[in-house]
Amino acid sequence: MNRPVAILIGAALILAFATMALVVIPGFQVHNLETTGYLEDYTQQELRGRQVYINQGCIYCHSQQPRSFGQTPADMTKGWGRASTPADYVYDKPHLLGTMRTGPDLLNVGARLPSQAWHLTHLFQPRAIFEWSLMPAYPFLFELKQQPAADDLVVKLPSQFKPAGHQVVAKQSALDLVAYLQSLDRTYPVADKEHYLRDQGFDGQLETEQSQEVKNESGEG
Ligand code: HEC
Repeated sequence: MNRPVAILIGAALILAFATMALVVIPGFQVHNLETTGYLEDYTQQELRGRQVYINQGCIYCHSQQPRSFGQTPADMTKGWGRASTPADYVYDKPHLLGTMRTGPDLLNVGARLPSQAWHLTHLFQPRAIFEWSLMPAYPFLFELKQQPAADDLVVKLPSQFKPAGHQVVAKQSALDLVAYLQSLDRTYPVADKEHYLRDQGFDGQLETEQSQEVKNESGEG
C-alpha cells in the first residue's frame, strides 16, 4: 500500500463509471416517460391493496415483468402477456418487478383472471382451486361469521374447505388486495416503440410473429 493516492483515484473512477452505467444513464433513459394513454393511475383502494401485496411478501414468489421472446421464448408460451416496457410502470412506486417465480408472473393477472370471487377463494385457500398449489393460504385476510351481514362478501368454497357452522367473509384488506390484482392489466399495445427499451435493436415485428408461431405450436401440441 505505498500508492494510496493512485488506489483512491482508481477506486473513485470505478465507482463513478458504475454509477454512470447503472444509475445515471438508465435514469436519464426513463426520467420523463409518459403513459401510453391506456394505463390509468391506481385508485385509493388499489393502492391500499398494493400495500397488502407488499406487506404479505407476494413479491417473493411472483414477478411482474413478462420478458420478450428475444430474452426467453418461455414467457411467451405461458400467456403472461407481451414483454413489459418502462412505460408500464409509471404509476408503480416502488416498482414490484420481483426476481422470483415460484408462482406465475402477475403483471397481467387482472386481464387473465378478472373474477373477484376467484381471487377471494384462491387467497383464502389456494388448494380449494388447485389441489397441488404450494402458495400459502391467507386466512387472516378473512373472518368467520355465523351470520354474515347483508353487505358482507361471502367467499365461495368447496364443501371440504368450509368451516363448520360459519361463513368466510372477506375483510377490507382482502377486498383491497383483490382490487389491486384486478387492476393488473398491461395488455394494451405498445404504441411508442421509442420507449420499448427492453428490445432496443430487436425487431418488434419479428417478435410478434415468433411468439405467434410458438402459440400456434403449443396450441396444436
Ligand atoms: C411461496 C410462494 C408464493 C407466495 C408467497 C405467493 N404465491 Fe401466489 N402463487 C404461487 C404459486 C405456486 C401459484 C400457482 C398455483 C396457484 O394458482 O395456486 C400462485 C398463483 C397465484 C395467482 C394465480 C396466477 C395465475 O395466473 O394463475 C395469483 C393471483 C396469486 N398467486 C397471487 C398471490 C398474492 C396476492 C400473494 C400474496 C398475498 C401470493 N400470491 C403469494 C406461489 C406463491
